Amino acid sequence: MTPPPIWFMRQAGRYLPEYREVRAKAGGFVELCLDPKRAAEVTLQPVRRFDLDAAIIFSDILIVPYALGVPLWFEDGEGPRLQPVRDRESAKRLDGALDRSVTGRVYEAVAAVRASLSGEKTLIGFCGAPWTLATYLIAGRGTEDQAPAKDLMRGDPQLFAEIIERLVDATAEHLAGQLEAGADLVQIFDTWAGSLDADEFARWCVAPTARIVEAVRRARPGARVIVFPRGASAAGIEALVLACGADAVSLDPKADRRRLRAVLGGRCALQGNLDPEALLAGGERLDREIDAVLEDFSGARHIFNLGHGIFKETPIAHVEQMIARVRRSG
Ligand code: CP3
Repeated sequence: MTPPPIWFMRQAGRYLPEYREVRAKAGGFVELCLDPKRAAEVTLQPVRRFDLDAAIIFSDILIVPYALGVPLWFEDGEGPRLQPVRDRESAKRLDGALDRSVTGRVYEAVAAVRASLSGEKTLIGFCGAPWTLATYLIAGRGTEDQAPAKDLMRGDPQLFAEIIERLVDATAEHLAGQLEAGADLVQIFDTWAGSLDADEFARWCVAPTARIVEAVRRARPGARVIVFPRGASAAGIEALVLACGADAVSLDPKADRRRLRAVLGGRCALQGNLDPEALLAGGERLDREIDAVLEDFSGARHIFNLGHGIFKETPIAHVEQMIARVRRSG
């Protein structure tokens, strides 16, 4: 058996000195995302250093709201800030088209990466799922419990539905744009899927994601899609994969690997799901958890990955240990 392909979420980032160097030159984080040369460079850094099987374009899920005209900035050490959209008046900010002078820079970076990446390596484009984007848009920042978005969902379902609908169209267009520019497949990040109950998950994760995939495949027939419903139940994950016909599903560290493999292994590839805490810890714990992931997915179509983004404090030696162990397997 050959070892599974390997890449990992946030593989370009602050745990790498070469990233920190380019990031410092770019000024801010948004500036780096919108500088095609530098974005292409940091996308390629981890692939060069570790010979990973895939590159994921360096950008951010919040570039879509920004390209719709929502002011976005990052507070150092705190995270993203957006001008909140929480009533009919502020929701008008989402009415315009995606600004091509913004998204075009992402597509330029995609094309530049594709041009210098060898043919065997996969280039991944991405977007945030509408629910996750809505949590940032409505609160104007990241939140522990997504309460502002839930309040609007329950208090003004009509307006909430309009916001989600707008984000469905915009993200589908952005994914198609990345595929057209040279991405081989796309991943839809629903970081906060786990905070929805079963009915809400069906309505605000499954249905919008299925509409996005349908629109992307209408524009780009045969487009391949990975979904990442972080924190969702096994039943929710199954429903999502079946509803949208995902080519792969990315699993978080808590996902029930054996159950999902049994139910979905015949339908799609399974990606994941090493705990980023194990990668941070290193040593025997890391070896043990890598082996458990490999064993639970052996024989299935498996893409080795973390269950969520790498922590910025992670030692590079641990990343090397992980890749060597995965490559020696099989
Ligand atoms: O995976 C990759 O290497 C590709 C690049 C990528 C980034 N963000 C770069 C980034 C991807 C795929 C994302 C997705 C993203 N962005 C998500 C969904 C996935 C997830 O992690 O749950 C979310 C929720 C965001 C929004 C976002 N961007 C937050 C909340 C933050 C702050 C948190 C933090 O780690 O500081 C960011 C910033 C961000 N996006 C960084 C990177 C490398 C760190 C910024 C820096 O360099 O200062």
